[in-house]
Amino acid sequence: MQPDPSERAPCNGLTSLQPTLPSADYWHADAYRRDLDAIWYRSWLMVCREADIAEPLAFRTVRIGSQEIVMLRDETGALRAFHNTCRHRGSQLSQESAERLKARLLTCPYHAWSYSLRGDLVRVASKSLPEGFDKADYTLYRLALSVWRGFVFVNLAEHPDGSAESSFDRASGDLSNWPLESLVTGHRLTKVMNCNWKIFWENFNECLHCPGVHKDLSRLVPIYGRGLMARHDDPEWARHADNDAPEFSGRLRAGAETWSRDGHAHGPVFSGLTPAERAAGRARPSGSVQNAFGR
Ligand code: FES
Repeated sequence: MQPDPSERAPCNGLTSLQPTLPSADYWHADAYRRDLDAIWYRSWLMVCREADIAEPLAFRTVRIGSQEIVMLRDETGALRAFHNTCRHRGSQLSQESAERLKARLLTCPYHAWSYSLRGDLVRVASKSLPEGFDKADYTLYRLALSVWRGFVFVNLAEHPDGSAESSFDRASGDLSNWPLESLVTGHRLTKVMNCNWKIFWENFNECLHCPGVHKDLSRLVPIYGRGLMARHDDPEWARHADNDAPEFSGRLRAGAETWSRDGHAHGPVFSGLTPAERAAGRARPSGSVQNAFGR
């Protein structure tokens, strides 16, 4: 089989020695604060599915860095996001991670200031209010919210760039024939990683550790057993350019049809997949685009 012309690209690997980040970037509080401001507080972040807050008055909370966020569906069906922080003395408004409000108000548990589901302050418990106090000055801090095909994103920036969709990497592929809107959450797995976030992403983007750490995965994806993630990670890839064996092409092992532990599909396959997409589990594309299902 002749290699695809797009595979006639240079090796993905380093061509010169590159320094790693200074160690303080992984543990110093100032570095973490810089990461939050530069990346996490100005990027569109997926926080839940629309179906997770399907009914009016349903809400979820999430923590991003040091910020508590509440997403809710108001009585008109509109989705909204706010800092989960009361404007009086900063108490946490909702301490539950997911529930349904009992009234059309968000009421602070500390001194009972109440906010409409649009974030407007509508009631304060104090009998005497200082002159000049205007409820309109104490709305909840609203956050940008964007929905893309059933996925809910928020952005903590005051003036975010574009929508969530506009921030996607187009090279990652077109999922227009995937029924993303109709998906529902079937299982939720939460992992807490006791490391700086960059450690995780650096690990995710390399497979040097795969042969020793992920033996089952390396059997399923034989090229991982060579410490590589894709054909072009191999400095000698051109010598094997015609070799379609899994350990060179990045395909799954013979007989495997998807990236599950045993290599078999355990759920219905999306009916609208193209032949190329059906084969995607078996033939990893060249380059370093990440598979949506794991690595
Ligand atoms: S802190 Fe919320 S009402 Fe006082």
